[in-house]
Amino acid sequence: PNVQVLAAKIASDSTVEVPERYIRPEINDEPMAEFVDLPVIDFNRLMDPELSQEESLKLNHACEEWGFFQLVNHGMPEELMKKVKEDTTEFFKLPVEEKEAYAQIPNNIEGYGSTFTLWEERKLDWGDMLFLVTRPQDQKKMRFWPSHPLTFRDTIDKYCACLQEISCGLLQAMAKTLGLDSERFLDVMKCGIQSMRFNYYPPCPKAADKVIGLSPHSDSDLLTLLLQVNDVHGLQIRKYGKWFIAKPITGAFVVNVGDILEILTNGRYKSNEHRALVHAETERISLAGFHSPSNDAIVGPLPELVKEQGRVNYKTMTYSEYIMAYFSKQYGKSLLESAKI
Ligand code: SIN
Ligand code: FE2
Repeated sequence: PNVQVLAAKIASDSTVEVPERYIRPEINDEPMAEFVDLPVIDFNRLMDPELSQEESLKLNHACEEWGFFQLVNHGMPEELMKKVKEDTTEFFKLPVEEKEAYAQIPNNIEGYGSTFTLWEERKLDWGDMLFLVTRPQDQKKMRFWPSHPLTFRDTIDKYCACLQEISCGLLQAMAKTLGLDSERFLDVMKCGIQSMRFNYYPPCPKAADKVIGLSPHSDSDLLTLLLQVNDVHGLQIRKYGKWFIAKPITGAFVVNVGDILEILTNGRYKSNEHRALVHAETERISLAGFHSPSNDAIVGPLPELVKEQGRVNYKTMTYSEYIMAYFSKQYGKSLLESAKI
């Protein structure tokens, strides 16, 4: 079911209700989510040999404590940021028939549609999405890439190239801070996969406080860079058993540590659980960029860090084994728990 179409029906006909499969009673049993100022990391300072030391300490602390931070001064050209926001917004504005030309097909994670439903009785998320593999070039499936707006493909290519560079810079800085060879994480990511999830969360006029835009999960990659496209909040992070709302900072990326980075660092960096909520009147658009190892990469705690910590905290497996488990039965945090020794 297309949530954008459903939301429009509910908005125009007062007799139409939000279907039961979207209603999540658990939200009302939780303490109210609070706004939080995530740590802010200045990418420019991080890359400057004269200034990087202080910034690296902040980065290290953010990854250990939150597994989340806001990244500013990241060097992505403002014009390109603006264009990505415009083209993403334009795409979701297209009539549903046009978007469905890029619809998901069975046994494939790419394309336009809903969040994957893993089992029949599972509750549904109040959101639509477009998922694309963007790197390496030869893994791009152009049939899923919108040709409207006309500049979409070109804009996303440029954005992804830039995002990849920023991610590599961050992973190098993290490796150095941990006392590792600066290429250590990049070695794992060599021939790795970059993918984008464009999220569209329609308003939910009758039950915004009873639905979830994106169910709680942790990310299965190394590093995720999220752009809150229309600067509307919705991302919530779990900490101390509570939910915290990440306030959008215009022009910043919200960066988070994924499961694989938690495993590689033997648990020093945290892949934290998060979710997205929606609003009654306002739509929300976000764009998550995932950076993952290649399928045959061996993923396990790095021996240098194991030695330092004196114990092995996670099992070692190939990335495809990890992903298979992630998408088959368990989800997010629970899977990471089961990888623990
Ligand atoms: C995500 O978890 O990838 C996206 C969350 C959001 O839309 O803020
Ligand atoms: Fe996520």
